[in-house]
Amino acid sequence: MATVSNLALLLVARLAISLYMQEAGAVKFDIRNQCGYTVWAAGLPGGGQQLNQGQTWTVNVPAGTKGARFWGRTGCSFDASGRGTCQTGDCGGQLSCTVSGAVPTTLAEYTLNGSSNQDFYDISLVNGFNVPLSITPTNTQCTAPACKADVNAVCPTELKVDGGCKSACAVFQTDQYCCRGTYVGNCPATTYSMVFKNQCPQAYSYANDDDSSTFVCPSGSTDYVIVFCPSQPIPTHKYIHVYIRLNVE
Ligand SMILES: *[C@@H]1O[C@H](CO)[C@@H](O)[C@H](O)[C@H]1NC(C)=O
Repeated sequence: MATVSNLALLLVARLAISLYMQEAGAVKFDIRNQCGYTVWAAGLPGGGQQLNQGQTWTVNVPAGTKGARFWGRTGCSFDASGRGTCQTGDCGGQLSCTVSGAVPTTLAEYTLNGSSNQDFYDISLVNGFNVPLSITPTNTQCTAPACKADVNAVCPTELKVDGGCKSACAVFQTDQYCCRGTYVGNCPATTYSMVFKNQCPQAYSYANDDDSSTFVCPSGSTDYVIVFCPSQPIPTHKYIHVYIRLNVE
């Protein structure tokens, strides 16, 4: 009997250790949709998932993942096999993305454990904007950047597309707007990039935007929450509100 229970204890201990090591080897991203419309979330890595208002998708990303991103897709329709199209952010017609989304997309970009054992993350409007979003590290010591504004509402006509607002680089493809050629390393803001910067000061508005747009958090100290439409109230708040009002009446 003693041998059996010792064996059982040993197995439980080994299971606990392997679970712990799995946890230590991954960083959790919770992607939540607070928009008043459906967003088809996409991740490289991660794939993709439909998120109705209030729904959350959890993606465990391997430690050390570099050059990665999440974004939202809008106006999608997919068949049972996961093939279809989206009005914005479409990744080759797949529900589960393996390639980047079509511009324009608001990007939540990150690199885990980059230089100096830091995670790097930013919101990029370099290719344009489709859905407002925020990146919140669960480590509250680290900055949580947000792009809450609806840039589509102030998008210059020449950058406007259905459901989004392209960057000047994406539309005109010039060295100046894309910071190429003679503009490498000397690429000032333009009236177009300022439209994006004024709406979302914490986001990259063009390729050479200054360092105010990149954020760091000690690697291994945090998970992340990405919220689409962060200025929308969390649905449960609505219910609490209704409950209190009913009680008063
Ligand atoms: C980050 O990378 C270094 C090696 O460059 C490694 O020693 C360290 O354990 C890593 N930290 C995390 C949290 O993965």
